[in-house]
Amino acid sequence: MLRVVVMVSGGGTNLQAVLDALRDGKITNAEVVGVISNKKDAYALTRAADAGIPAVCVSPKDYAERAQFDEALLAAADSFSPDLVVLAGFLVILPAALISRYRNRMINIHPSLIPSFCGKGFYGLRVHEEVLARGCKVTGATVHFVDEGCDSGPILLQKAVEVKRGDTPETLQRRVMEEAEWQLLPQAIDRIANGRVTFEAGHAYAEP
Ligand code: GRF
Repeated sequence: MLRVVVMVSGGGTNLQAVLDALRDGKITNAEVVGVISNKKDAYALTRAADAGIPAVCVSPKDYAERAQFDEALLAAADSFSPDLVVLAGFLVILPAALISRYRNRMINIHPSLIPSFCGKGFYGLRVHEEVLARGCKVTGATVHFVDEGCDSGPILLQKAVEVKRGDTPETLQRRVMEEAEWQLLPQAIDRIANGRVTFEAGHAYAEP
C-alpha cells in the first residue's frame, strides 16, 4: 500500500477527487494517511475530517521564524511516513529539505500545460486570466514531480482542455478542474502506486 500525504491550502476539490477515486477503486494499492494544511480555515480540512483521515494544520502564523515553520512542516510530513507527498493546491514555498527528502516522491498539480502559464506568480485564477488574455484555444493541466524550481520538475501526465469563446477565468478554471485536474491527479497516484512510473534521463514516464 502506497502511503499518501496530501498537502493543501484551500478548497480541496483535488483532495476530494483523490478520495472519491480511492473509494471507487480507480486508485488501487494506495491510501491517504494524512492531510496537511497551512491554513486553519481550509475547507480541505473538513473534507479530510469527513473521510476520517488525520489532518494537521501547520501555519506560518504560529512561528516567529520561517526556519521554524519549515522544520515543523517537514516534521508533519515525516510523521505520516509517506511514500508519496501530493501537493494539491498547496500555496507555500517549499522548504529545501522537504524537496530533497521527497525527491521523485512528491508530485504537484498545476492548472496549465507546463511550460506555458507556470512559474512564479502563476497560481489560482491568474493562470486562466493569462490564458484568456493570450487568446489561447487550448489549455489544460499538468502533474509533475517537484524539484527545486517553480513548476520545473519532470512532467508525469498532461491533459488538454478546450478554451471556449466567451469563457471567463472562472468558467475556464472550472472546466480545467472537471476535465483535467480531477482525472489526472488520481491517475498519477494510481500509476505510482502500481509501479507504472519510470524515470529516464531526467524525464518521467507513466504507463497506461
Ligand atoms: C487547483 O487549480 C490546482 O491545480 C492548483 O490549486 C488549485 C487547488 O484547488 N495547484 P483545490 O483546493 O484542489 O480545490
